[in-house]
This record gives sequence, structure tokens and C-alpha cells, in this order.
Amino acid sequence: MTIQAGDLRIDYSKQMIDEIAITRLLDLASARGTTSAFARMTNGERINVTEGRAVGHMALRTPRGEQFLIDGVDVVPAVWLVLDQMANLARAIRSGEFIGSTGRKIRSVVNIGIGGSDLGPAMVYEALRGDRSLDISCRFVSNVDPADLEANLAGLDPAETLFIVASKTFTTVETLANARAARQWLANQLGESAVKKHFVALSTNTQAVREFGIDTKNMFEFWDWVGGRYSVPSAIGLSVMIAVGPEVFFDFLSGMHAMDVHTAQATGRMNGPLMLALVNIWNAAVLKSSSRAVIPYSFDLRRFPAYLQQLIMESNGKSVRSDGSRVPYATSPVIWGEPGTNGQHAFMQLLHQGTDVVPVDFIGFARSSANDESRNELLFTNLLAQSRALAFGRNIDELLDHSATPHRVFAGNRPSTMIVAPELSAAVLGQLIALYEHSTFFEGVIWDINSFDQWGVELGKELALSIGLTLADFPTHNHPELDSSTHTLLSWFTEHRQSNK
Ligand code: F6P
Repeated sequence: MTIQAGDLRIDYSKQMIDEIAITRLLDLASARGTTSAFARMTNGERINVTEGRAVGHMALRTPRGEQFLIDGVDVVPAVWLVLDQMANLARAIRSGEFIGSTGRKIRSVVNIGIGGSDLGPAMVYEALRGDRSLDISCRFVSNVDPADLEANLAGLDPAETLFIVASKTFTTVETLANARAARQWLANQLGESAVKKHFVALSTNTQAVREFGIDTKNMFEFWDWVGGRYSVPSAIGLSVMIAVGPEVFFDFLSGMHAMDVHTAQATGRMNGPLMLALVNIWNAAVLKSSSRAVIPYSFDLRRFPAYLQQLIMESNGKSVRSDGSRVPYATSPVIWGEPGTNGQHAFMQLLHQGTDVVPVDFIGFARSSANDESRNELLFTNLLAQSRALAFGRNIDELLDHSATPHRVFAGNRPSTMIVAPELSAAVLGQLIALYEHSTFFEGVIWDINSFDQWGVELGKELALSIGLTLADFPTHNHPELDSSTHTLLSWFTEHRQSNK
């Protein structure tokens, strides 16, 4: 029950699963055609049927000179054209050759984006802390709450700041509102003409970028066959590339590609992403677990659970099958997590002794990016202790102190998977991300849902727009179309908003 997938060792022996279950799950995978489904994605077929698109994120890390066909066209040359364009800018910023409007070197990069245009680069930037240049720091603004931009602009010198407006569609309301505010902040201090030297865009939408006022020469392109939550290896990774340099970024892409190759070639129980998916399907279907924790024993991976929330929940939080019928079984559980050992002093109590059984993915490394073997040893031994305590518990005979006996007993049999690697290098991080991407894909194939659309987020966007219009003439006009709760809350908002002015 241990798989070596690239540099990752995946040990699922502490799951509540046995040989018979594994055999049946592998039968299920072959009945659902997981191998041919993966091949269809690799062949660039339009497997995102509800949006009529191919799913090409693996093309983004295909080595130069190899092919990845989408609609019969090899997209790898176009991918590398953009990667080279990104590398040129990253090198020029790092060397000081690229300068701001007043001739000063760029020392701060502010990425403005949300969802996949934020979570991926923000997570990878933190994870590759050890590889970053000390001369340039990146900040990530995503929330339309004005406090986010204000907090992140604090202390920045506009003459040394580059803004990256990251939006696949370039229509996302939050991102555009923040980008306009950032532009105003810059123009107020350096003048309108400075904008062209201090703003670049990452998008698929050339026209909207132009309309925003960013020179399309400063636009880094990607394509509609890249899903937002799969976009960190695309132009969306520009902030990371500036921070760590093109060579480290290319190592990250190589790591992702290595996992793509492993997933395409490893058969049955040797396939890391497939087995991770099958264990999760077992836990959802048989143990009825509606939540799953991901706990990295790594400070640098502290944003990884948030990244996985979008990757997994936006992909597989679905309840309609490909033929339009409702799924008669549970699909994705809620994904959550925080780094260890902090979680041990917060939520781990419930995982050990609560009434719900929550399966855990533990992630750990033999070496730390910080140079202190002894504290890293403490970290890793804590990781092992948690998975052991969850699996084996403690029965009454093992108690030395018999006061409050029932409270000191641990039932055990709480499942976890251990994913370990020698260290969190760029290549290992790439493998880890691709491991979860492909396990999410296999889950979707087995559940017969489309992992690549996200219609569930649309209704909220539409309603926010229409409530915004309502607010314009509220409360002067009556709005009988509103439910009474929303109506009352809007009244409360207008009243308090005014009195705060
Ligand atoms: O939340 C919906 C969503 O479309 C995500 O899938 C996407 O990552 C995010 O919004 C941001 O979209 P964009 O990059 O187009 O601004």
C-alpha cells in the first residue's frame, strides 16, 4: 500500500481498506474507463462537454519540442513562446534592466487576481520561499474588500512597484475593481503616463486588456483550454517566475510533467493519482465521510489547503452526471486544513475523538527549507505520531493513569494517507500539484461528473450584480422582487453606511 510516484512516496496503509476493497476499486476504475479518459484529455479532446472545450493544462508543462495537440494543432510552440516572453521580463526585472517610469528598479510585484488567478501563484510563491530573490517581494491582492488592497499597498513605493492584473476572462468584477483602484493609486503619485510601465496583464481576453488601458505588448497570453484552477503553470505563474527566476520555474514545470508521465504510464495500483482517488471514493462512499483534511507538516505549504479547496471543490462539487441525471451517491467532500504542528493545538482533538471520522492527507518532508535539522526532526516525528494515534488509538489496557478513563481512550481506526518527499523543491511541488490535479480528474471520471466547469459560482455573481443595481435606488423605490430577509438587510446596510460617513 505504498506507491513511489516520482519523488513522492504515497503510503495509504493507514486507510480503512484491504486487498479485497482495492481489487474492487480497481475493477470500478477500469469499468469507468479511467485510463482511456486520461488519454482523451492528453489527446486534447473536448472533454469539458458543458463548455465545449478541451482541457489542456498538461500542455503548459510539455517539454519544448514535444507535442500536445488541441483540435489537431500542436500548442506547445505557442506555450513556449509565452514562457520565453515571461522569462525575458523576469530576467530583466531581476537584473534591473527593466525599470519603472522614474528609472528605478522594480522591487515589489503586486498580483491582482482571484480564484485560480490568485490561489495558485500565492501558494507557489510561499512554497518556494527558499528559492526566492531577496531583492523582489510579491504581494497578492484578491478580495474586493478595499482593506485587502489597502493593506497590501502599505509601505510600497509606486516607483518600484509592478502590478500584474491576472484574470483569464478579464471580466471578473472583483479583479477589475481592485485593478482600477491600484491604477488610480499609481497615477495619483506618478501620473497617468506611468501606468504603461507599471502594469502588465495575464489573460485570454486581448480586447478587454486593451480597453482597460494596458498595452497588449505587456500582455501574457493563455488560452480557454486552461481552467482557472489549473492555470498556475501558465502565464498566471508570472509573479512566481519573477520571484524565483525562470530556471526554478522551469524545474517546477518539469515536476508537473513528470507526474503527468507517471499518471499516463503507471498501471493500476502503481498509479499514485489513481490510488489517491480510489481511496477518497471509498471514504466518501463507504465511510460516508463528508469532509477531508489536508495537513502539510510544512510552514511553506501553509496555503496548499486553500489552493486544494478550489482545485477539488470547484472541480468535483457537483451533483449532476454527464447524462443530466442527479448523482445517487456522494461526490466531493469538503476539503480543509492548516499546517501541522499548529493544527494539533487546534482541531486535531476532533479528528482523534470527535463523532465524525475525517480522513486526512498528511504531507511531510525529510529536509526543511530552513537550516535546522533538529526542529525538522521534531516536526516529522509529530507527523508520524499523529497518523499513528489516528490509526491505532489507545485502549484501556494501555492507560497508566485510570482517572477519567473513558475520556482517555482513543478508538483509533481513523484513516490517513501519508505523502512524503525528501524536500520541498520546485520539482517536488510541481509533482504534488499534478498528483492532486490528476486524482481530482479520476474522481470526476468515476463519479461521472464534469470536473472542468463551475456553473455553481454563476448564480452568486448574477445576484450580486442585480442587488447592486437595486442598491442604486434603495430605499426610494420599492423592491417587491426581494425576499424580506434581503430587503431588511439592505435597509440596515444603507442606514449604517450613511451614519458611518
Ligand atoms: O470562481 C469562478 C472563477 O471563474 C474561477 O474558476 C476562476 O479561477 C476565478 O473565477 C477567476 O476568474 P478570472 O481569472 O477569469 O478572473
